[in-house]
Amino acid sequence: MTLLTPDRAGGRPSPGTDPAPGLAPLTTELGILFGGDYNPEQWDPAVWREDVRLMRQAGVNLVTVGVFSWSRYEPQPGVRDFAWMDEVLDLLHAHGIAVDLATPTASPPPWLGNLHPETLPVDADGVRLGWGSRNQFSPASRVYREHALAITRDLVERYAEHPAVRMWHVGNEFGQVCHGEESAVAFRGWLRERYGSLTALNEAWGTSVWSQHYGRWEEITPPRRAPYHLNPTQVLDFRRYSSDALRSLFREQRDLIREIDPVRPVTTNFMGFFALVDYWSWAEDLDVVADDAYPDPTDPHAASTSALTHDLMRSLGRGRPWVLMEQAAGAVSWRPHNLTKSPGRSRLESLQAVARGADAICFFQWRAATKGPERFHSAMLPHAGPETRAHQGVRRLGADLARLRPVVGSRVGARVAILFDWPSWWASQGEALPTDRLDALAQLRSWYRPLWEDGVAVDVARPGQDLSGYDVVLAPQLYLLTEPAADTLREHVARGGTLVLGPFGGVADESAHVRTGRFPALLRDVVGVSGEEWVSLPDDGAEVVWAAAAPGRPGSFRAEVLGELLRSEGAEVLASFRGGHLDGAPAITRHRRPGSGAAWYVGTVPPQDALADVLRQAIAEAGVEGAAPAVRLPGVEVVRRGDALFVLNHGRGTARVRVEDLLPGSSVPPRHPGSEVVDLLTGLPPAAGEVVLAADDAVVLIERNS
Ligand code: GLA
Repeated sequence: MTLLTPDRAGGRPSPGTDPAPGLAPLTTELGILFGGDYNPEQWDPAVWREDVRLMRQAGVNLVTVGVFSWSRYEPQPGVRDFAWMDEVLDLLHAHGIAVDLATPTASPPPWLGNLHPETLPVDADGVRLGWGSRNQFSPASRVYREHALAITRDLVERYAEHPAVRMWHVGNEFGQVCHGEESAVAFRGWLRERYGSLTALNEAWGTSVWSQHYGRWEEITPPRRAPYHLNPTQVLDFRRYSSDALRSLFREQRDLIREIDPVRPVTTNFMGFFALVDYWSWAEDLDVVADDAYPDPTDPHAASTSALTHDLMRSLGRGRPWVLMEQAAGAVSWRPHNLTKSPGRSRLESLQAVARGADAICFFQWRAATKGPERFHSAMLPHAGPETRAHQGVRRLGADLARLRPVVGSRVGARVAILFDWPSWWASQGEALPTDRLDALAQLRSWYRPLWEDGVAVDVARPGQDLSGYDVVLAPQLYLLTEPAADTLREHVARGGTLVLGPFGGVADESAHVRTGRFPALLRDVVGVSGEEWVSLPDDGAEVVWAAAAPGRPGSFRAEVLGELLRSEGAEVLASFRGGHLDGAPAITRHRRPGSGAAWYVGTVPPQDALADVLRQAIAEAGVEGAAPAVRLPGVEVVRRGDALFVLNHGRGTARVRVEDLLPGSSVPPRHPGSEVVDLLTGLPPAAGEVVLAADDAVVLIERNS
C-alpha cells in the first residue's frame, strides 16, 4: 500500500521536532507495540507458559518485566537469584515477545530498611515511613543508591545481550519526597549550587521577612511542619530540589545501563501532569517518553483531559512517538470507588493515544493479581480467564493495533502551543495567595478544551522555549514568569503571532517575588493593558459585559475566582466588569499593532462558553483551523497524524460524518486519480461516503492508491 502525502496544513511536523530514532528500530520491526506490565514472580512457572500462549493469541509483542522483583533477585543482602528471570526471558523470546526490562529499584526489599533505616523516607511531620508497601526510599540516601546501582549493574550485565530485551525501564513512577536529615544535607548542596552564597540565598528567600535570616548553611532544612505559613521560596526551591533529586537518581541508573548497553533505549514511566516532578527538565534524559494514563471515569471531560496529557507526552519528546506504558483495561483499585470502563471505551482510549502520537499501547497489567494490594485492579487477562468480555476486548484491540502499522513513526503537526510550567504551577499552589481557587492545571484544561472540540492540534510548550513556527501561543496561567520566557512571548507577537495571556500572569519572578509596577510587568507593552490590583471575586462572581463587536454572545457573563483592576494602554476592550469593585475595568482585551500580531488578555476566569468564544476567535483570526473544520459534533474528536485522520466518538450516541467533510475533495471525483479513502481498522472504504460511528467507535482514514 502506498500512502499519499497530504497537502493539507496540519500534516507537517511541529516546530522543533527532533528526528532522533527513539522507538523506531523496535516499531519498524514490530509495528505498534502492544502489551503490559508482566509480573511472573507472582505466579508458578506453569502459569508463565499459559501466559505466553495467551499473549501471542492477543497480539502482545512487548511486556515490561521485573518492575517489583528486587526481593526476588536479592532475597538477602548480596545474594543473587536470577535463574527464574533467565527462564522468563527465554520463554518470552521463544514466543516472539519483546521485553522492556525494568530495574527493580522502586521497591527495595524489607531487609534494606531494616538494616539501614536511613534509606527510608521521612515526611514533613518528621515521620519515617516504613516498608510493607513500595516506594520506601529516600532519593538522597547514599546507601539506597549504592544498593540500587549494585542490583542494576548485575541485572543489566546479565541481560544486556539477551535477545528478548529491547528496552530498559528505570524504576517506576518516580515521585518520592523526603524531608529527613540526609535530604537536608543534599538540599543544602543543591542550594549552594544554585545560589553560591548565603547572601544570595537570603536575598532570594526574602529572609528579612519574619526574622528568617540564615547565618550558616547547616541551619537550613527542608520545609517541615511549622507553626504558620512557610517561606514560599524555600518551599518552591525544595520542590525544585526534590524533582532534581529524583532526576539524578534516574540518570544514575540510566548512565549505568548505557555504559553496559549503549544501544537499547532507556525510559521510565511518567504520570501525566504529575505535581512532584518537572518533566520538562527530564525530557531530554529519556530515549523514549513513556506515560501512565488513568483517566477518571467520573470526569465528564476525561477525553479532552487525556488528549491534553497525550499532547504533553508528544511535546516532551519533541514530537517523537511515545509509549503509553500503563493504563487500566477496566477499573483501577486505588480510588475510593472504582468505576470500570467497557472494552469499547478502553479501545477508544488506546486509539486516542495512537492518534496523538503513541506508538506503544500497554496496560497495567497482563494477568490480574490474586494477592497483594492490587488484587482488584483490572488486567488484560482477568481472574475469570480468557473467555471474558474484557479479554476478548483486549484481543480485538491487539488486532486493531496491528492494522495501524502504517501510522507508526508519523508525526502530529501543530500550529498552536499552550504553555505549561512546573515551577510556576508549584509556586501557584503555595500558601497565602490572593486565592487558592485559581488552579493552574484546571485553567490549562479549560483553555485546551475548545481547541480539542474543534480538532485544533496543540503542542504543549515550556515557557522560554523557541516558539517560532507556532502561529498561536496560549498562556492560561503563568504566575511565575522569567525574563527570558517573557522575551519569547514578546518576539512571538513581534513576528506576527497571536498570544493569549490569562489572569494572574507574570506576577512573580523565579524566586516567587512579586514584580513591582503595574502588571503584567514584563509584558505590559505587548498586551497594551496594565493593572494595579488582583481582586478575588465573591462566590457568585462578578458581572462582565461584552462590548459591541466582541467575540462573545451578546450580553454578559459572570466571571469567577479572580478579576484585575486593569486599564487599557492601547488595547481594544472586548469585555468589561459592571458593578462592584471592578466596575468599568477591562476584563478581556486585544492589542493589535501595525506590523505585529495580536496579544489578547483575559484578566479573569470566564465561564467555559465565554472563554471558548474568545479562544475560538483568537485562533480563527490567526488563520488556524481544526483537522476537519466542517465537523463539529459533541464528543467527536478529529486528529490528523501524518497521513491518517483519526475520528473518535467519545459521545454517547451514534455520530455520522460525511467523508467529504473530513477529507474535502476526497470523494467523487477522487482528489488524486486512482486514490481511495479507506479505514485502516477495517480495510474498507466508508460506505456511501459517510462515516457512521457508534459510541466508543473510531475510524482511521487514509487515502491510498487503489
Ligand atoms: C501505576 C503503577 C503500577 C500500578 C498501577 C495501578 O501505574 O506504576 O505499578 O500500581 O499504577 O493503576
